[in-house]
Amino acid sequence: MGIRSATKKDLDDIVEIERLSFPDPWDYNYFNAALRNILIVYEDYETKKVVGYLVAVCCKQNRAVIMKVAVHPEYRNRRIATELLKAILEILKEKGIEDVEIDVDMMNRSAIELYEKAGFKIARTIPMNSEDESFYTMKLRLAKS
Ligand SMILES: CC(C)(COP(=O)(O)OP(=O)(O)OC[C@H]1O[C@@H](n2cnc3c(N)ncnc32)[C@H](O)[C@@H]1OP(=O)(O)O)[C@@H](O)C(=O)NCCC(=O)NCCS
Repeated sequence: MGIRSATKKDLDDIVEIERLSFPDPWDYNYFNAALRNILIVYEDYETKKVVGYLVAVCCKQNRAVIMKVAVHPEYRNRRIATELLKAILEILKEKGIEDVEIDVDMMNRSAIELYEKAGFKIARTIPMNSEDESFYTMKLRLAKS
């Protein structure tokens, strides 16, 4: 298995994982546009299928936002998301990014734990109509290399 940048050929696998992972999935065109940003994938070297992906966008003032992380349900709990996060943080550091943010559903315990283990801290709450629709913004400050 390995992490690499995504290409157009990966988009069908990514869209399938997305559909299995989110109630309001991005479609093919969204991911196609995301290729202009940073889209990395985790590939199963035996099947050559993409089993996880992460999308990040660099913004102004040395800031980046992680837009998406997902792992195929059959491949979860094998530290694939942890590896994807580690890889993206290295890439962002090399680009001179200092602050990384991610919005996460308050009820998504597995994602919150994943980000906390990578060093992210809850910075603010974005209240919605009910608690199960509210979000945390989690932040990580990258050390300058
Ligand atoms: C969240 C998600 C990306 C985690 O992927 P993963 O590859 O299974 O995660 P990892 O194996 O790297 O787990 C890292 C840590 O996250 C936490 N975690 C992962 N799955 C968990 C679960 N089902 N319950 C509780 N904690 C969990 C654990 O703390 C775990 O650390 P550990 O391995 O020391 O126990 C995956 O569950 C997923 O795709 N979910 C649907 C999409 C989603 O919610 N994405 C995040 C949107 S913000």
